[in-house]
Amino acid sequence: MAKRIEVKDLNVYYGSFKAVEDVSMTVEPRSVTAFIGPSGCGKSTFLRTLNRMHEVIPGGRVEGSVMLDDDDLYSSKMDPVNVRRTVGMVFQRPNPFPTMSIFDNVAAGMRLNGVRSKKVLTEAVEKSLRGANLWNEVKDRLDKPGAGLSGGQQQRLCIARAIAVQPQVLLMDEPCSALDPISTLAIEDLIGELKSSFTIVIVTHNMQQAARVSDKTAFFNLAATGKPGRLIEIDDTATIFSNPKQKATEDYISGRFG
Ligand SMILES: Nc1ncnc2c1ncn2[C@@H]1O[C@H](COP(=O)(O)OP(=O)(O)O)[C@@H](O)[C@H]1O
Ligand SMILES: [Mg+2]
Repeated sequence: MAKRIEVKDLNVYYGSFKAVEDVSMTVEPRSVTAFIGPSGCGKSTFLRTLNRMHEVIPGGRVEGSVMLDDDDLYSSKMDPVNVRRTVGMVFQRPNPFPTMSIFDNVAAGMRLNGVRSKKVLTEAVEKSLRGANLWNEVKDRLDKPGAGLSGGQQQRLCIARAIAVQPQVLLMDEPCSALDPISTLAIEDLIGELKSSFTIVIVTHNMQQAARVSDKTAFFNLAATGKPGRLIEIDDTATIFSNPKQKATEDYISGRFG
């Protein structure tokens, strides 16, 4: 199930622009790792390299390696579509398929994978919606459009859609930035539950959120606009927020910049 991510010497480019430089880190299975750092330091860019979404951007390429347990994600033998199935992603703005029903939104990935049995789909949709803490709110209107849900419900629907295909890793890029505080807490609770099954990486600009939900925190920074972002420090979340080793981390978490 949940897998370890091991990144070594990763450089990430948009054409000739190096957006992220020289990142190495390990993400342990069944844990939550938060990425923090000022806007533009490459958090989203780096996150997208963990499921080969970066390369779909024209000019997007990487150097270095990303291992998922014993599998090299960038090996020529790897099918990027399979990688994205194994490493699911939830985006900043909830993006349910607007014309699809709640049921079909959750079932979409499984259908793409060739699951046809109504019974299998029905069971998996319920399990995923329960897993995303949304079942009780939607069980009586599964045939209604996903777009009719509130923002927080839509984001949980997207999480249900992501976990329905049983990924091993879940990447979340500022999943609460479009949500109100109550929905944000619901998602944070959910992250706490999901980590017993998945390896979770979350980008957040909210340091309280990083402190609340994550086991490890990685601080990224960039020396100046136009320079690549770098990983400054990764450590236990409690350590990053109470006793970071780098001055730049200390300045950032104490609100002196960023
Ligand atoms: N599609 C793109 N094409 C070219 N440059 C990009 C693209 N997306 C992001 N960048 C650049 O890469 C750098 C890192 O951006 P991003 O990963 O979005 O940072 P963050 O998520 O930390 O705010 C920035 O300089 C940004 O302008
Ligand atoms: Mg971003």
